[in-house]
Amino acid sequence: MKASLIVLVSLTGFISGVLQKTDGTYQFNRRCSFFHGNHHLLVDCSNRHLNRIPKCPPTVDILNLHNNSLKNIPDKAFENLHELLELDISSNKLSNISIDAFVGLHNLKRLILEDNRLDFYSYPLGVFKSLVSLVYLNIKFNGNNQFSIIPDYAILDLVKLESLEVDAYYPSGVFIFGRGLSRLPSLKRIKTGICEMSTVNNETFFNMPHLEFIDLSLCSILRYDAETLSNRRKLIYLDMSNVYFLFEYFKKFFEDIQLLKVKILKITGIVRELTELPLCFFRNLIYTGIEVLYINNNTFVVADNNIFKMCNAVPTTLKLLDFSNNLLIKFCFEIPYLLTLNLRNNTLGQYLGQNSYMDNETGISQLEMIDLSYNKIMSLSFTIFHYQPNLKIINLSHNFLSNITFDLSHNINLQLLDLSSNRIKLFEKETMDLVSSIAKNLKLTIDMTGNTLQCNCRALPFLRWMNDNKYIFLNIQSYKCVSENEAIIQLNNFPKIVQEIEKECKSYTDLITCVSVAITACGIAIATGLIYRYRWKIRYLYYLSKGKYYSYKPVDDSIHTYKYDAFISFSEIDFGFIKNCCIPQLEINSNLKLCIHNRDFMPGEEITVNITNAIHNSRKTICVISRAFLNSYYCRFEFNMARMESIYSRSGHNILLLVFYEQILPKELPLVLLELVQEQSYIEYPHDEQGNVVFWEKLKEAIA
Ligand SMILES: *[C@@H]1O[C@H](CO)[C@@H](O)[C@H](O)[C@H]1NC(C)=O
Ligand SMILES: *[C@@H]1O[C@H](CO)[C@@H](O)[C@H](O)[C@H]1NC(C)=O
Ligand SMILES: *[C@@H]1O[C@H](CO)[C@@H](O)[C@H](O)[C@H]1NC(C)=O
Ligand SMILES: *[C@@H]1O[C@H](CO)[C@@H](O)[C@H](O)[C@H]1NC(C)=O
Ligand SMILES: *[C@@H]1O[C@H](CO)[C@@H](O)[C@H](O)[C@H]1NC(C)=O
Ligand SMILES: *[C@@H]1O[C@H](CO)[C@@H](O)[C@H](O)[C@H]1NC(C)=O
Ligand SMILES: *[C@@H]1O[C@H](CO)[C@@H](O)[C@H](O)[C@H]1NC(C)=O
Ligand SMILES: *[C@@H]1O[C@H](CO)[C@@H](O)[C@H](O)[C@H]1NC(C)=O
Ligand SMILES: *[C@@H]1O[C@H](CO)[C@@H](O)[C@H](O)[C@H]1NC(C)=O
Repeated sequence: MKASLIVLVSLTGFISGVLQKTDGTYQFNRRCSFFHGNHHLLVDCSNRHLNRIPKCPPTVDILNLHNNSLKNIPDKAFENLHELLELDISSNKLSNISIDAFVGLHNLKRLILEDNRLDFYSYPLGVFKSLVSLVYLNIKFNGNNQFSIIPDYAILDLVKLESLEVDAYYPSGVFIFGRGLSRLPSLKRIKTGICEMSTVNNETFFNMPHLEFIDLSLCSILRYDAETLSNRRKLIYLDMSNVYFLFEYFKKFFEDIQLLKVKILKITGIVRELTELPLCFFRNLIYTGIEVLYINNNTFVVADNNIFKMCNAVPTTLKLLDFSNNLLIKFCFEIPYLLTLNLRNNTLGQYLGQNSYMDNETGISQLEMIDLSYNKIMSLSFTIFHYQPNLKIINLSHNFLSNITFDLSHNINLQLLDLSSNRIKLFEKETMDLVSSIAKNLKLTIDMTGNTLQCNCRALPFLRWMNDNKYIFLNIQSYKCVSENEAIIQLNNFPKIVQEIEKECKSYTDLITCVSVAITACGIAIATGLIYRYRWKIRYLYYLSKGKYYSYKPVDDSIHTYKYDAFISFSEIDFGFIKNCCIPQLEINSNLKLCIHNRDFMPGEEITVNITNAIHNSRKTICVISRAFLNSYYCRFEFNMARMESIYSRSGHNILLLVFYEQILPKELPLVLLELVQEQSYIEYPHDEQGNVVFWEKLKEAIA
């Protein structure tokens, strides 16, 4: 503390009460701080309510008195500050300056009196005489009346002045920058503060023949006459931002600048009626050598070269073109030499779904950066980024994209694809493959901040892939995803979250497996039930279809002739009855043709087929029922096949004749047989001669 005090005393000589503050700066007079920087001693007295100019060390280079309460600058206020280079008294309450106020400031280069109450009468004759080195004078924002203009006699003393910032308030008639300015051979730069000009014309800038830089931003100009600017041949920078022109003046303005050599042109917010870009707009700029054009914040709806291609080529010198914040629904030019194209905040979404912003007729473009953010883009045409091998940055932020459908394989220099704030939920497999193959060869990074990714089982492959390819993604820590139950999860610990989702999905998969097993089991059970229920029908149709005489059609009994009159179904044990009674009674005596399996079947595997066919080819089937019959597999089979034959081939006409060869109690009979017994007629074999005669007669009748 003490050491620094001594140093300062030796440095400044006469200032007492110096304190070193903890931030390394010094405070003196308890008001200003001062510090060294860039070989300059800077004294900062800003924001301190000062109403008197404080005493300063004579070595000060920069004195900042911004935002105090100074009302005037008295004589010799800075007399000892011979080394002062810059003096800032902006935002005070200055209304008058004494004639000798600046005496001694012969090294002063920059004087800032912005935002005070100075007017035409505040500057005594010769007030600036001492300022022989001044190159920059800022007296803008000093009042909105025509007397706020600096008088010619005051300004013409500033022989070295290069840059002037003033108000230009003249709301009626032609505004002319004063004649005094014509005496300043170095004046190159003019910038306005408060600015209202009714009319500008060839006189307005006439007194500033060497202007290189004009900034009229925020001026209000009611009328722009031809040739206002056409003679400013040295102009390289022109800022007309937010100068509101009627469209007719806009066109005049553009004709005017054809012959200039302007490199940077800012016409932000100059057109406010919906309109197309004038035909041949760019032709006006061909000879200017323009490099940067800001034509943003206007109301252009269409900007393309479709009608007059020849006259609307983007100048080859143009490197930056900013069409942001317009209302474009269509944009297309040949841009072989452009490096930066800003189309932010337009309405090109629909157009770019099918088309490109670039006319590819001239082939390859040098474009390095394209900004398509805020364009309501849902999808982009596949070829949109073709012919632009130098593209480094593609900005598609704040659109409605859900998928990458455009080709990037030609963009071998791509470094950043900004997909932030879109509607991407996940990438499909093809997209992942595409992105990783591009990212592998290039140093591509992708920003997907502000998309609501999904973290459900469907997205699992995508999340896994993202985790494996973390290095591709910018700001991955801030990504969020939405889970199955709509909870928003911050993906700040990617591997852990992926693991958790994997676990959840595993139990989910298990659940699915269980459910599907259950469903399958049910299905099998039902199928089994159905097959069991229709087992006889299935077998009947199966065997019938295998047979040689297959004809699965209901047959009309009266017309159809059968190979056999009756098929006899019986148990082997009762063969005696068949051989000794049935054949003699029915075949020999009555001339009926019977089918008896041991006699009429050829032996072989396909006995079941034979049975089915035999039943099908017989008018009736006679079952000789005995206990042995009930126990025989084949007998039961024959019985059931005959039942099926009745139902499916004879339109429900019964073909079964039951002959009870033995006395059998109802409870011994199977259910189906019992039902038939109850419904249909059946015959019991009487086993006595009298009865037998009747029996055979009845049976013959039934068969025929
Ligand atoms: C001006 O200085 C006063 C006092 O330090 C401060 O309160 C005020 O915020 C300053 N104004 C600006 C515009 O910086
Ligand atoms: C300064 O200006 C005010 C009003 O603008 C005036 O009353 C006063 O006399 C002027 N002072 C000097 C020293 O010119
Ligand atoms: C401005 O143009 C008018 C006619 O358009 C002409 O009479 C006048 O001489 C021009 N002034 C200058 C300074 O060129
Ligand atoms: C252009 O418009 C945007 C959005 O309205 C605004 O943020 C920006 O300040 C404007 N630019 C200029 C230079 O006025
Ligand atoms: C887009 O431009 C409009 C004017 O055309 C402006 O009002 C709006 O704020 C801009 N939006 C963004 C996000 O820059
Ligand atoms: C230009 O791009 C379009 C698709 O946008 C394509 O059909 C055409 O073949 C391309 N022209 C050349 C010269 O490659
Ligand atoms: C892309 O555009 C958005 C919105 O216009 C902006 O915030 C972002 O910084 C841009 N990204 C890059 C890489 O320029
Ligand atoms: C995404 O785009 C690819 C091809 O670029 C396509 O195969 C895939 O089906 C698309 N996915 C969705 C969800 O649209
Ligand atoms: C029984 O099957 C054999 C061979 O499969 C066949 O030749 C024969 O004609 C069949 N008999 C009847 C009555 O269908």
